[in-house]
Amino acid sequence: MKIGKYEFDKPKILAPMAGSTDISFREFVYGLGADFAVTEMIMANSLIYKNPKGFLLMERGEFDDPFVLQLAASEKDIFLKTLDHIKNSKADILDINMGCPAKKIVKKGAGSALLKDPKKVYDIIKSLKDALDIPVTVKIRLGFDSLTYKEVLKSIERAGADAVTVHRRTQLQQYGAFYPESIFEEIRELVSIPFICNGEIKTQEDIDRMFTLGCDGVMLGRQAIKTPWVFSGLKEEITLEERHQLMKKHFSLIVKYYGKERAVFKMKKFYGSYVRGVRSSKAFKSELMLIDDYNIVMEKLELFYKNNL
Ligand SMILES: Cc1cc2nc3c(=O)[nH]c(=O)nc-3n(C[C@H](O)[C@H](O)[C@H](O)COP(=O)(O)O)c2cc1C
Repeated sequence: MKIGKYEFDKPKILAPMAGSTDISFREFVYGLGADFAVTEMIMANSLIYKNPKGFLLMERGEFDDPFVLQLAASEKDIFLKTLDHIKNSKADILDINMGCPAKKIVKKGAGSALLKDPKKVYDIIKSLKDALDIPVTVKIRLGFDSLTYKEVLKSIERAGADAVTVHRRTQLQQYGAFYPESIFEEIRELVSIPFICNGEIKTQEDIDRMFTLGCDGVMLGRQAIKTPWVFSGLKEEITLEERHQLMKKHFSLIVKYYGKERAVFKMKKFYGSYVRGVRSSKAFKSELMLIDDYNIVMEKLELFYKNNL
């Protein structure tokens, strides 16, 4: 799969996930074998109105190669107002969010709301392609409340996008029901640009099967939080000692970027991944969630592994 100057062989990609795919998690999954990762969604307006939160999400790690920045907005003109920021960001690839189903985003006309208007999709992508020297990719769902992906994909391709990622749900489906894998085969026939499939891909077997369906790349979201080692080709159930080692590496990266005080809050999302598999896991996880002191958490974790190995 080729996106601009970047060439990948059956790439495994970390999905953008607001609140999760920060610089520390991206570095961690790169180390485990992900081919690249996408930043959390950044609202174009947050850059225009100089909200520091937006700029923090644009931090590039030295491992981020390519550095793929994801941006969301409702209008072409809003995207275009951020051109200087995109150019200054050192982004290698710009990804446009046309899939976010969240109420507060779609009510503004951004994210998956754009899937209602294939002409608007065309205008946004075409204007960004004309204005930027870096590749522009798009991430979509199958539609908003009806299936519009055929028209939307045509617009995306005609506008010159360098790749498209398709999450096999509509906005209406949120994170519930999803379309069968045959939808990926159908989409493969519809587009000739690189096509990355996404949605409910959980294991190495799933990943391998996606490539037999014609996908050029595979993007993993929630499973990457649950079992980040899926990028190494490891089975879902690894040993407790393997979890112990990965936990130490992962949490040390969170500390590297955010310091111990903030790290302990960010780590809460991941306790379940690392303490699963023994009888006392659930209670232990609940106990950890209540502790805000980094050193105490780490002591408790070490004791947990010592007692259960
Ligand atoms: C907590 C969370 C945050 C997400 N944030 C984003 C985002 O910022 N941008 C985006 O395009 N998709 C976002 N998504 C959607 C994922 O990238 C992905 O498309 C979706 O989770 C389906 O893939 P999965 O089944 O592998 O998780 C988010 C999903 C979750 C669960």
